[in-house]
Amino acid sequence: MTRSAPKAGVIGWPVEHSLSPLIHRHWLQRHRLEGTYDLLPVAPDDIGAYLQHFCEHGLAGANVTVPHKETACRIAGKVSDLARRLGAANTLWLEDGELAADNTDVHGFVANLDERASGWDDGKTALIIGAGGAARAVIAGLADRGFDRIVIANRTLERATALLGWFAGEPAQLSAAPLDRADTFLAGADLIVNTTSAGLAGAAPLALDWSSAQATAIATDIVYVPLITPFLAGAAQAGLTHVDGLGMLLHQAAPGFRKWFGVMPDIDEELRSFVLAALAERH
Ligand code: ATR
Repeated sequence: MTRSAPKAGVIGWPVEHSLSPLIHRHWLQRHRLEGTYDLLPVAPDDIGAYLQHFCEHGLAGANVTVPHKETACRIAGKVSDLARRLGAANTLWLEDGELAADNTDVHGFVANLDERASGWDDGKTALIIGAGGAARAVIAGLADRGFDRIVIANRTLERATALLGWFAGEPAQLSAAPLDRADTFLAGADLIVNTTSAGLAGAAPLALDWSSAQATAIATDIVYVPLITPFLAGAAQAGLTHVDGLGMLLHQAAPGFRKWFGVMPDIDEELRSFVLAALAERH
């Protein structure tokens, strides 16, 4: 490997659980490219200085994950309109010596559905469970793809209400509901999205009554451990089309890889099987 091979990585805290190194190293190998991709643990107290001096780290760029996405958006010199709209960035690179930031979570979310449930955006009404950072990306993606009624149901109602304010300028009609009223909105929803960590391996699942859902509705989860979350299992049992969250992870990674290493990588069954096998080993 030459000294000029591009270096990238994922910045987070903690970050050891991240699957990003696995994905990017797989692509580097597959596309026979020189380069490295590493875990970059940076503590909350250090993230400001780390990003302000980004060009001193010898990196072509980086992914940013929890809890630093908002800080990255605030500190970067050039911020894409989309990252600004979400108040969060997950992909960084250097542009003329300046730190540039974008958000590829929206792309990951819609590309996964485009790939696995084509026609998913024929519907107009969506129910989103959760009101955290991931919900923001989902709201933007749905609004961009023509959903004009979006209900956000969250355990903490205030967080869902706060999102209405954040997205006040969007043409879609957003409303907020407490999580225990989510069932009320299931019947009218063309698309149902879980953005909460409920159902993540080891966590208590959401209690949804799927019996009122439309037979044509589509359910998708952003959680991919387990691949079929209790949320998706409930949707499947009710006969709904359901899409797991792994594709979102793979698709959000690709634009960064192209920026740093110069090639748009393949997202195919080989990569999916590779990541699934690694997940099975870990859990
Ligand atoms: P992220 O950036 O991944 O969205 P987050 O900002 O911590 O993470 O948001 C997590 C979301 O999952 C929130 O909507 C949270 O609900 P609260 O706002 O009430 O905390 C939701 N969540 C986490 N655990 C949950 C559980 N066991 N049941 C229901 N909702 C849960």
